[in-house]
Amino acid sequence: MPYERRLFKKLCFQHITILMSLKGKNIISIEDFSREELDKVLSVSEKMISFIENGTSLCKGKILATLFFEPSTRTRMSFESAMLRLGGNIVGFADAKATSVKKGEILTDTIRMAAAYSDIITVRHPSEGAARVSANASDVPVINAGDGGHQHPTQTILDLFTIMKEKGKIEGLNIGLFGDLKYGRTVHSLAYALSLFEGVKIYCISPEQLRMPKYVLKNLAKKNIQVIEESKIEKAIPNLDVVYATRIQKERFGSEKEYLDVKSSTIIDKKVMSLAKKDMILMHPLPRVDEISYEVDSDPRAVYFKQAAYGVPTRMALIALVLGLVE
Ligand code: NCD
Repeated sequence: MPYERRLFKKLCFQHITILMSLKGKNIISIEDFSREELDKVLSVSEKMISFIENGTSLCKGKILATLFFEPSTRTRMSFESAMLRLGGNIVGFADAKATSVKKGEILTDTIRMAAAYSDIITVRHPSEGAARVSANASDVPVINAGDGGHQHPTQTILDLFTIMKEKGKIEGLNIGLFGDLKYGRTVHSLAYALSLFEGVKIYCISPEQLRMPKYVLKNLAKKNIQVIEESKIEKAIPNLDVVYATRIQKERFGSEKEYLDVKSSTIIDKKVMSLAKKDMILMHPLPRVDEISYEVDSDPRAVYFKQAAYGVPTRMALIALVLGLVE
């Protein structure tokens, strides 16, 4: 195994607990956050909504580098929008093929350069552990925008913010994680964060082949929260306050056959929605492929586009906290 891959693997599961102040810290895994820190980011996100309405120059003179080695629409655009809304600037790339990576440059060299050209870096990479490797190579803070099938902590912040905004609380809710729980990094991060909220019950709803990984279930077991595994969304949905649907992560499957065996096993359509509570909310990190039928978009319980929009205030909060520009 080449040196870079070995390093990624070694660092993937290493968690470094960060202190209450996020100033100067790397945001790599949701497990680096305490409950108090999550609450802090959520309350600063709320303040950021008024900054969007009234304008701010909080990040004037600061530069965010967005380094995306994997495709992205929402995460990259909302990070860039967040920095521009804060009055800062952005540099970076959306396609590593147009950079020196194409010439054989290793990740850590690219990161060193980005750190010389910016005050804060956000990186998305197809390899698990790449965000931690990046942070170790960087002189400026690094925010993980998704590392392979491992973690996506900033998505989790916006997911928690959405639940708070739409349901008024997180404690005590029955939350269903549905779809590709094996390869979906968003649900790995979200499940851990939810375990920090009292009385949350997590339903893991997926076909047998796409069950939540054992290491995630083990971490949840330590937190003393109830986890229920189900195969059928129709069976679980009447109990749920939140359904968090995910895309089958085709690009992370070992073979086309493995993917075809589980593709479109269940779709959330009007019929499935008719089994849900009147005040249930349906979330999705997007992109949706065919796990939610388009006819559901007009249902007021479908909040996934609103959820994506919350990516801006929440990422503004993270940038401002990490740069030490808000308390
Ligand atoms: C997710 C991701 O990249 O992990 N999308 C996102 O960041 N909003 C989910 C996915 O790609 O399925």
